[in-house]
Amino acid sequence: MNQSYHTPVLLKESVDALMIKPNGIYVDCTFGGGGHSRAILEKLGDDGRLVAFDQDEDARRNIPKDPRIIFVPHNFRHLQRFLKLHNIITVDGILADLGVSSHHFDEAERGFSTRFDAPLDMRMDQRQPLTAADVITNYSGQQLHKMFEQYGEVTNSKTLAKTIVELRNTQSLKSIDALKQALRGIVKGNPNRYFAQVFQALRIEVNDELGALKEMLQQIPPLLKPGCRAAIITFHSLEDRLVKNFFRRGTFQETEENPFIMSKSMNELKVITKKPIEPSDEEMKRNPRARSAKLRIAEKVMMV
Ligand SMILES: C[S@@+](CC[C@H](N)C(=O)[O-])C[C@H]1O[C@@H](n2cnc3c(N)ncnc32)[C@H](O)[C@@H]1O
Repeated sequence: MNQSYHTPVLLKESVDALMIKPNGIYVDCTFGGGGHSRAILEKLGDDGRLVAFDQDEDARRNIPKDPRIIFVPHNFRHLQRFLKLHNIITVDGILADLGVSSHHFDEAERGFSTRFDAPLDMRMDQRQPLTAADVITNYSGQQLHKMFEQYGEVTNSKTLAKTIVELRNTQSLKSIDALKQALRGIVKGNPNRYFAQVFQALRIEVNDELGALKEMLQQIPPLLKPGCRAAIITFHSLEDRLVKNFFRRGTFQETEENPFIMSKSMNELKVITKKPIEPSDEEMKRNPRARSAKLRIAEKVMMV
């Protein structure tokens, strides 16, 4: 594990939740610094296997020399496809620790952090073409408004979008400092919090984080063997809501539209955590980045 790359959050809680069988096949959807993967490997025997996904090539440097691990440098939205490539049709457990790693925030040139000046990049997968600068430069006022409202919960998202559209005609807004300077006059409340919300919205959009999460969640029921579990750690309410609803009902809708069609028995997952597990005070003190973490666990039912 590379602690300077990322400190794992809810490590024991999430890995214990998987009830690891020494000869099982497990998936870590978000390898990062490898903290969770290492804890899974420690519980696996010689015949066990771990498939670790990470769409960021930088994560590759943290892979331990271990014949039981297969690294897949791709988006977890293609979970089933890549598992099939390795002749894996069903698995004994799936873990995902969503979002970005500390490495992303600490490397100035990746463009995720409001603490540094750098190009507005924010791509986890640097093979993809869309950057945060492209979003700022090319999205319509309405698209920007919706994005800041929905993904960042920015209070004056309409004014924010309008200001960007006006200013980008006369000046470049492609760097972190340029964007922060341009928005100086419209910041509401605490500037650090305001820019954190603006950056969160851009990051979610650039990486299509909610789209990838939805696609991954839908692959959990067919992939899990009966009686086996998925453990997902989220860091904001938009992600947590998707996981909560999908685990409860097998759909992303807030409420069941027609109880006869969406009957509970159609859901192949059983919720293990009625309320999400949150980090202890001790963990939050030791690792402030764990503050907003929520762990939800579901189990594939034996028979539907
Ligand atoms: C919070 S970190 C995981 C840290 C890891 N559990 C550890 O202990 O070090 C999330 C990681 O998942 C990767 N990631 C995020 N979304 C992804 C996606 N849709 N597909 C593949 N990897 C993703 C990021 O690049 C990042 O390295």
